[in-house]
Amino acid sequence: MLKACVIGWPIKHSRSPLIHGHWLKHYNIDGTYDKRAVPPDQLATFLASFEEQGLAGCNVTVPHKENVFHSVAVTDPLTRILGAVNTVFVRDGELFGLNTDGMGFITHLRKSAPAWKPQTGAAVVLGAGGASQAVVAALVEAGVPEVRLVNRTLERAERLANKFRHKTTVTTHAWEVASDVLADADLLVNTTTLGMAGSTSMELQLDRLPQTATVYDIVYVPLETELLRRAKDRGNTVVDGLGMLLHQAVPGFELWFGVRPEVTPHLHSLIVADIEAHS
Ligand code: ATR
Repeated sequence: MLKACVIGWPIKHSRSPLIHGHWLKHYNIDGTYDKRAVPPDQLATFLASFEEQGLAGCNVTVPHKENVFHSVAVTDPLTRILGAVNTVFVRDGELFGLNTDGMGFITHLRKSAPAWKPQTGAAVVLGAGGASQAVVAALVEAGVPEVRLVNRTLERAERLANKFRHKTTVTTHAWEVASDVLADADLLVNTTTLGMAGSTSMELQLDRLPQTATVYDIVYVPLETELLRRAKDRGNTVVDGLGMLLHQAVPGFELWFGVRPEVTPHLHSLIVADIEAHS
């Protein structure tokens, strides 16, 4: 029997067991995927007992992503830049780490907005936290010629920008000028917590954003954030954050269970139903 799990502290709200559980059943695989609450002071013990527990791998969530990065082997260049791991797998008895957030982000973007072409214009990214890093890395790798990074704390944006400036143009901007920065942009991505259920609302003026631009909000509770609703009303193509969550799970499942799973409308509706049941 193949075993995998998700670790975090707390872990109650993770939807990963629902996603992987669905795929295990769908592909008729003799395997399990559960949640493990691992406090920070027990992370090392957990990782050391991987083999003993018979684990093929795990997902990693807050607050462990950076610590796991420093505790496992990392060969993927993108993961090295991010310094954070969300997927662990075993190869020849050794633990390896990968960050699949960027892949999830870009796969979902390409599927939902096929008209978006990375090479043609600037991308505005709101936020400069862990999620933003994965998004910026994926955009840079896709060939976006200019990234405009907007964050409340400018130094944090500056630190992030410096990681990518050798590859493309990355400018940083204060939150107060966010609406001006939207002029002639091709893509707007929100990676902040603004607009998330229970958080402050997003009050960004969209007037200067071209109607041809794509607007992507990585927040998925609610599925249609106020930002996406306003963008849709003015004719922009909109992309919600749920697909990113589903697509980032694909590489892990394949590494642990040997089958590349598909993100289907059925899986999508299963998670939507769960979000609705808990909101
Ligand atoms: P994650 O790892 O999910 O990206 P994070 O590292 O906590 O989470 O980052 C949250 C992002 O939301 C940050 O860019 C944060 O801005 P700061 O760097 O200035 O903290 C942004 N954010 C959170 N609350 C905000 C608010 N009220 N106004 C503007 N930005 C906010």
